[in-house]
Amino acid sequence: MTTSSERITWTNRWAFILVTIGSSVGLGNIWRFPYIAGTQGGSAFVVVYLLCVLLVGIPLLMAETMIGRRGRGNPVVAVLKTANESGCSRWWGALGWMGMIGALVILSYYSVVAGWIVDYFWKMLIGVSFESREAAEAGFAALQANPVELILCHSIFMALTVGVVARGVVSGIERANKIMMPALFLILLLLTLWGGVAGDMKQAAHFMFAFRPEAINREVVLSALGHAFFSLSLGMGVIIAYGSYFKQGSSIANASVWVAAAGVLVGLLAGLAIFSLTFAYGLEPASGPGLILQTLPLTFAHMPGGQIFGTLFFLLVVFAAWTSAISLLEPFTSWLNERVGLTRRMSALSVGLFSWLLGVGVCFSFNIWSDYRWFGKNLFELLDYWSTCIAMPLNGLVVAIFVGWAIKRHVAREEIALAGRMFTLWQGILRYLAPLAILLIFAHSLGLLA
Ligand code: PFF
Repeated sequence: MTTSSERITWTNRWAFILVTIGSSVGLGNIWRFPYIAGTQGGSAFVVVYLLCVLLVGIPLLMAETMIGRRGRGNPVVAVLKTANESGCSRWWGALGWMGMIGALVILSYYSVVAGWIVDYFWKMLIGVSFESREAAEAGFAALQANPVELILCHSIFMALTVGVVARGVVSGIERANKIMMPALFLILLLLTLWGGVAGDMKQAAHFMFAFRPEAINREVVLSALGHAFFSLSLGMGVIIAYGSYFKQGSSIANASVWVAAAGVLVGLLAGLAIFSLTFAYGLEPASGPGLILQTLPLTFAHMPGGQIFGTLFFLLVVFAAWTSAISLLEPFTSWLNERVGLTRRMSALSVGLFSWLLGVGVCFSFNIWSDYRWFGKNLFELLDYWSTCIAMPLNGLVVAIFVGWAIKRHVAREEIALAGRMFTLWQGILRYLAPLAILLIFAHSLGLLA
């Protein structure tokens, strides 16, 4: 077992920034962001999302990193130690549990969706082409109807994730990120350039950035806030886990700004590349979750060099999803390793296996179990709803209250080494703005706002 004094740390500040960007940049930025921006009025959503990242996302990112670094342990231990130091109740430990369980649940269906991407990567590589809209839609429907193919791709992706986490924090997680993240940025830049040459970048930029205040409504604000949470990996114990390996003495505020900026940049570049092609080929930006799985393969089939472009694109998404999935596996793995005393390998394998099994249920929910519904939702929709609409905001709310109100001011001051006014601003946001904003998302997703 590892004690806090001998706890491993990332090799340096940049390594923490890189792995946290790896966690943050994922299906959320490349699959979710463009389709939500597409359906929520483009630029209106983008502007509000940027504000949410700045005003709520960064302060919460700092708060979670702080808990991890101060408590130097898996999410449960880190929260308990931080609470203890300030003389707070042991009940705060529930915060760690909630996050770890949430991460496990997200991982189960995240791996299934990432499996779709693995499937499309393979299809692009071997030259499968979707020539018409009907063919693209039928291709996606056929994948969803085939449990064997879904489970196979889900298993491959989960095995990749477990393989990295089992190797350890520095030689597994840090090393994988050091290879994949630069590759991801490079491919993304290439694709954006290509989008500029082969696509309609002007219209895409107009769609994403022309400010249209009249398009902002409550729906836009709430989905932007929810997306800021998801895309920054907040409320799942993941940032606490990663923060626990962050070296003392490095600035948490500075690192958090870098992470948020990189996540936003990737989302915007991916959006520009995707919408440039969507517009150039006369497709509909508001086509929903199928945007990158149906619209883009169709685009690739008709553009010069489409097979290479398509293969690279899906490789990029696999990398992005992989580094995020790794971060989802880490919190429970470190708990099993540190508290139960299983080896790291066994811990990663056990958590992966549990999550995989739940994921198999998710694979069935698209076909043979599609008739089983709870609260009108199939298993996939239920898990997604529970984790992103309930567990995430609830956990974020508790983090904001814990760090904003419960822990001693001097503890927060020591960790968040910000000058007077900036510190007060950060604490003020955690005390008032963040809880209020989160309560709003919560009320909205529970249907309490008429
Ligand atoms: N931030 C990841 C993405 O945008 O795809 C998803 C995610 C990872 C959410 C880790 C939550 C989390 F704890």
